Amino acid sequence: MRKPVIAIDGYSSTGKSSISKVIAKKLGLVHMDTGALYRGVTYFANTHYSNHNGEPDLEQLVKNLGKIKLEFRKEHDDLVLYLNGEDVSKAIRTNEVSQNVSLVAAKKEVRDFLMETQRSIADKGGVIMDGRDIGTVVLPHADFKFFLTASTDERAKRRFLELKGLGIETDIDTVRNNLLTRDKIDSERDVAPLKKADDAILIDNTTLDKNQTIELIVSYLKDF
Ligand code: DC
Repeated sequence: MRKPVIAIDGYSSTGKSSISKVIAKKLGLVHMDTGALYRGVTYFANTHYSNHNGEPDLEQLVKNLGKIKLEFRKEHDDLVLYLNGEDVSKAIRTNEVSQNVSLVAAKKEVRDFLMETQRSIADKGGVIMDGRDIGTVVLPHADFKFFLTASTDERAKRRFLELKGLGIETDIDTVRNNLLTRDKIDSERDVAPLKKADDAILIDNTTLDKNQTIELIVSYLKDF
């Protein structure tokens, strides 16, 4: 029996990745957090092509995309992101990466570079992929599409707690400002902007916890 292809898009810190991970386990699907790929490219740019004001030199990055090898390796039931053989799963969550990732993700060359990795995974079916343009651009023919949103305050609180859990020091205002800036850049960019696909189901989980959001999504998947 063919397994479904599911696209989960939406704003930062609506729980897309952690929710997708649980649903993947429940239904025996492969989960791909596509934001991690954009973060991996940004980490590479920050490390190698940072200019004097701390921003990545996008021209240099684009010229050198061929030097980047990103892969997810399965470790203890989790997919861990490796960049050129180095585990970067924690390094990609820092504020430095969060601050620059939307600029990097707005480059068409970067998006084209990551497209192949994303589509090749979905070709086999049985996948749940989360990001910003999965239902609109990467997998327009997905069997199910969801678009997640929540209030800014709730999202800032969630991201702050997530970073704290990772041992990353920050404050709630920095986190909130970063979310708002990223939302703006992600939604207004020319290439593959963050936007709900016409046929996506909208879920506002401001007042829903992680399990309630999962139950709601799974209730739509029952008929597959
Ligand atoms: O999901 P996240 O917050 O880790 O994503 C980080 C950034 O990557 C996000 O601000 C925009 C970009 N991104 C994107 O442009 N397209 C995707 N499919 C996934 C993420």
